[in-house]
Amino acid sequence: MAATHSAEQVALITGANKGIGFEIARQLGKQGITVLVGARDSHRGRKAVETLQGEGIRAQELILDVTNQRTIDAAVAEVDRKFGKLDILVNNAGILVETAPPSECQIENLRKTFETNLFGLFAVTKAFLPLIRKAAAGRIVNVSSALGSLTSVADPQQTRLKNRYLAYGASKAAVNSLTIAFAREIRNTSIKVNAAAPGLTPTAMSNFAGHQTVEQGAVAAVRLATLPPDGPTGSFVDGNGTVPW
Ligand SMILES: NC(=O)c1ccc[n+]([C@@H]2O[C@H](COP(=O)([O-])OP(=O)(O)OC[C@H]3O[C@@H](n4cnc5c(N)ncnc54)[C@H](OP(=O)(O)O)[C@@H]3O)[C@@H](O)[C@H]2O)c1
Repeated sequence: MAATHSAEQVALITGANKGIGFEIARQLGKQGITVLVGARDSHRGRKAVETLQGEGIRAQELILDVTNQRTIDAAVAEVDRKFGKLDILVNNAGILVETAPPSECQIENLRKTFETNLFGLFAVTKAFLPLIRKAAAGRIVNVSSALGSLTSVADPQQTRLKNRYLAYGASKAAVNSLTIAFAREIRNTSIKVNAAAPGLTPTAMSNFAGHQTVEQGAVAAVRLATLPPDGPTGSFVDGNGTVPW
């Protein structure tokens, strides 16, 4: 039964059981948005939901492995049955599996990284788009990275970004390309499609290194998830503003 009042805003955040995704869910939940905590592991997902509910947030678990079409289809069916629409999709789930420089990168790592960071993100976006079209003003946020900015990583003056993560950087550049492609295709609808760069943030992915808090790492994605009608589409931003493609 799609019993939800259409005024209730519903957001799905993939990979929300920990890290930046969890924090995005928390910040959206604090704004009164119902958050669907995408998690590939039900135990980890349930724990995250309990923590959010303990903070007064309307949170629900949604089993979703972005590399598994069966779980994606089941998640779409569940969201359709419960809400009949999806207002916000934050494609946050991502992996970084390499440690070697580009010339030593294993092709398996390239495949594995693209499977999650690009193909998974594409599969989730494509599957949920019909439900996002049913929302009054859908927002799609792709969590990218400064390492996906070709302009930045190609800049010899840029010393902060060491482009040694071939698979990861290439997958995030492809996420940026996908963001532009979807934004252009549906630019005449009320849906906005944008990419966010969190900045180096202390999570498991960064071995808990980072120059900012996890709260700050979530800010750009949360802003894009809650853009007003006159906000941009097809943009790439971090917490400070536009990031060059
Ligand atoms: N941390 C940084 O400095 C940084 C900087 C720039 C961009 N980012 C981006 O920010 C996003 C979040 O990263 P993070 O730092 O929060 O990393 P994290 O703490 O490692 O969290 C990654 C999340 O993605 C989930 N995930 C991985 N593969 C998945 C799959 N196949 N299906 C569903 N969920 C999956 C993980 O689930 P499990 O717990 O089950 O593994 C976890 O919930 C990523 O897209 C990352 O590339 C991070």
